[in-house]
Amino acid sequence: MVTIVVAMGEKNEIGSNNQLLWHLPKDLKHFKDLTSGHPVIMGRKTYESIGKPLPNRTNIVISRQKDWFEEGILIVGSIKEAVKFARKIDEEVFIIGGGNIYEQTMDITDKLEVTLVKADLEADTFFPEIDNKIWMKTQEVCHEKDEKNPYDFCFQTYEKIKSE
Ligand SMILES: NC(=O)c1ccc[n+]([C@@H]2O[C@H](COP(=O)([O-])OP(=O)(O)OC[C@H]3O[C@@H](n4cnc5c(N)ncnc54)[C@H](OP(=O)(O)O)[C@@H]3O)[C@@H](O)[C@H]2O)c1
Repeated sequence: MVTIVVAMGEKNEIGSNNQLLWHLPKDLKHFKDLTSGHPVIMGRKTYESIGKPLPNRTNIVISRQKDWFEEGILIVGSIKEAVKFARKIDEEVFIIGGGNIYEQTMDITDKLEVTLVKADLEADTFFPEIDNKIWMKTQEVCHEKDEKNPYDFCFQTYEKIKSE
């Protein structure tokens, strides 16, 4: 099972200047709960924005650069290679961004774990459109903002509609 995990605003915005658009501790916990113990695949820019390997997960980072090296991560040259390695480690594989990698992996993904943040923010990176002919929302749990989480948001699960 290949699952994309993303937090996006109301216009599918996900990032600006290689950073996230919000600080939502409840969403970070959700992300950690979903992905811990499983391999995570990300683009080189997302890795650099996080700045260090995510603990308790094999970090697989995709880059076209041949001479780029960082300690504690697995660097691969293509999405195919990333998924191949990840599947050797575990059946559950998570793709964690960013925009460029999401665009190239929607086709090979079975499930979307979306945090829909009720915000409309300036951004330079976006999540692809979730086509309701391809994806069906199967679960939604919403939370109201509080002193630590400045926006309302919903955790949504989408599953790919299987063509007979
Ligand atoms: N809200 C969220 O859930 C979320 C999640 C993740 C990231 N983000 C945000 O998204 C932004 C980063 O996204 P991004 O789209 O700019 O970059 P990205 O997808 O993280 O990384 C793009 C890089 O990945 C490598 N790459 C992409 N496709 C490849 C391929 N087919 N083969 C080999 N290498 C490939 C290239 O690295 P090289 O240039 O090294 O070749 C490319 O520059 C940041 O603002 C980040 O905070 C948001």
